[in-house]
Amino acid sequence: MSTVVPGLIRGLIGACALTLSVSAFAAESGHAAEAAHAPAGPAFLKGDAKAGETKAGACAACHGPAGNSAMPAWPKLAGQGAPYTYAQLKAFKEGKRANPIMQAQAAPLSDQDMQDLAAYFAAQPAAPGVASKDAVAVAEKLYRAGNAESGVPACAACHGPTGAGNPAAGYPRVGGQHADYNTAQLTAYRKGERKAGANGQIMSEVAAKLTDEEIAALASYLNGLR
Ligand code: HEC
Ligand code: HEC
Repeated sequence: MSTVVPGLIRGLIGACALTLSVSAFAAESGHAAEAAHAPAGPAFLKGDAKAGETKAGACAACHGPAGNSAMPAWPKLAGQGAPYTYAQLKAFKEGKRANPIMQAQAAPLSDQDMQDLAAYFAAQPAAPGVASKDAVAVAEKLYRAGNAESGVPACAACHGPTGAGNPAAGYPRVGGQHADYNTAQLTAYRKGERKAGANGQIMSEVAAKLTDEEIAALASYLNGLR
């Protein structure tokens, strides 16, 4: 009992902090949703998916047809929340998220291009993946409930029970994403190499508490999550 209670309290404190930050985002984006009844989020208002489809031709070589990449190092973009995709393209263009390939891809894009591309990929169905059995055994509990002992919050609190994310808050879809890509990103967050903006800081803090084994298991688990 005495070992369980402090953990529970820490878990509850964590859950309150999460609720606060999530509701702050919800309040901000609520206005946009009411006003436009369109993709919500502070910085994302005007994407045209039809225009984005034409502009996405150049992306298919790596991200696959309709954003369902077949290569494990290249992320799937299909079904990703538009505000998140838009924010990442902007971060690549501004050099805040470092990746030579994507910085070159984003450099020529206008703000409208990024909004249109984000709207297009958000409207495409995400292709599911598969998790290894061993990964599920380690990662499922962590994903759903976190680990009060090591201070890891429940991933589901932000990324949702099926990994669909929270588009309005800019919390990305992780369900179905390639394991290799997930491992690379979680490792980059943990090293502090990926931390652009307030949202990047959030994930940096989460990943700092994960072990190599947990990262590997979570990466595969997310691939199978739907
Ligand atoms: C030559 C291959 C290549 C092409 C072409 C390419 N990308 Fe990428 N893209 C990548 C790689 C590799 C990454 C992973 C970068 C990293 O590890 O940070 C990535 C990451 C991304 C991400 C971040 C995804 C996430 O989940 O955070 C977005 C968004 C993205 N690309 C959009 C685009 C768009 C839009 C285009 C077309 C205009 C495009 N990409 C063209 C290789 C490519
Ligand atoms: C408090 C909310 C929150 C929690 C809890 C959280 N995440 Fe995240 N996660 C985010 C946000 C926000 C981002 C986008 C950060 C950015 O802009 O770089 C993100 C990004 C990611 C990405 C990169 C997605 C991509 O396409 O590049 C992965 C993978 C991820 N999270 C996995 C996890 C896992 C696994 C856990 C649980 C151990 C977790 N997250 C817990 C909010 C959260």
